[in-house]
Amino acid sequence: MKSHIKTAEIILSALPYIQKFRGQVFVIKYGGAAQTDEGLKSDFARDIVLLQLVGIKVVIVHGGGKKINSLLDKLNIESHFEDGLRVTNKDTMEVVEMALSGLINKEITSLLVAHGARAVGISGKDDGLLRASAFNLEKYGFVGKIDEVNEAVINALLKEDIIPVIAPIALGANATSYNINADLAASAIAAKLKASKAIFLSDIKGVLDKNGELISKLDEAKIAELKNDGTISGGMIPKLEASLECIKAGAKAVHIIDGRVAHSLLLEIFTDEGIGSVIR
Ligand SMILES: Nc1ncnc2c1ncn2[C@@H]1O[C@H](COP(=O)(O)OP(=O)(O)OP(=O)(O)O)[C@@H](O)[C@H]1O
Ligand SMILES: [Mg+2]
Repeated sequence: MKSHIKTAEIILSALPYIQKFRGQVFVIKYGGAAQTDEGLKSDFARDIVLLQLVGIKVVIVHGGGKKINSLLDKLNIESHFEDGLRVTNKDTMEVVEMALSGLINKEITSLLVAHGARAVGISGKDDGLLRASAFNLEKYGFVGKIDEVNEAVINALLKEDIIPVIAPIALGANATSYNINADLAASAIAAKLKASKAIFLSDIKGVLDKNGELISKLDEAKIAELKNDGTISGGMIPKLEASLECIKAGAKAVHIIDGRVAHSLLLEIFTDEGIGSVIR
């Protein structure tokens, strides 16, 4: 009997959060770094199905850094990063698009469908969702700067209770493909949709300080300080830039959480303590 009451209490503890978040748009960035273990991928899909069923309008944007690196390795194409961005020549761009729009997008979409959700995988090129131009052609190659977000296709899917799963590839002039850092794609989409939350799942506890300790709360000043003193590097640079962009566009909070922890999404959304870093 006691354990039944305990179970009921656990379920009920989510009630205030469900009441608060029902009907809101959450953009969830599923980092390539977090897409490792098959069990965790399934847990992620089930968490998303639950979020949708309690009335949250979930939009997924995914990365694919690890998969892209391993494909490039197999093809003997060198990976090279500048400022946390992948330098993308024409050959690299083909691999990036194959990995993101082909393999990873369909893997996430099919897991969601297998767990009972309606989900449709698209890239930023579909319906002209993301339009981009070169960020700095000489320095980064086909890394795109997003010029325009046309959210019509996302709204059409959400209206039908279909979860959009978006690969961060954008459409350029003459139908060129641009590689967009997935964090920046997620923030541009979150800003356009006026999402109330953005959540970045990565392969780290959250934002860490110089001693490797978790920083649970950050704001713009703190981010500038961490950037200036070199505490943040690599993929964390665009992630924090993207976080600030979401907040400036009106999101109430951005969460950076550990995708290696099972059900980290549910813990962050439906409990008081949360588990990662929150930017407000
Ligand atoms: N101060 C910091 N705190 C936490 N992580 C940091 C910090 N500085 C640099 N990083 C790096 O940022 C990485 C996360 O960004 P990364 O781009 O690698 O992953 P992702 O965005 O989740 O995946 P993908 O880019 O494939 O979507 C961490 O694994 C860590 O190595
Ligand atoms: Mg990244």
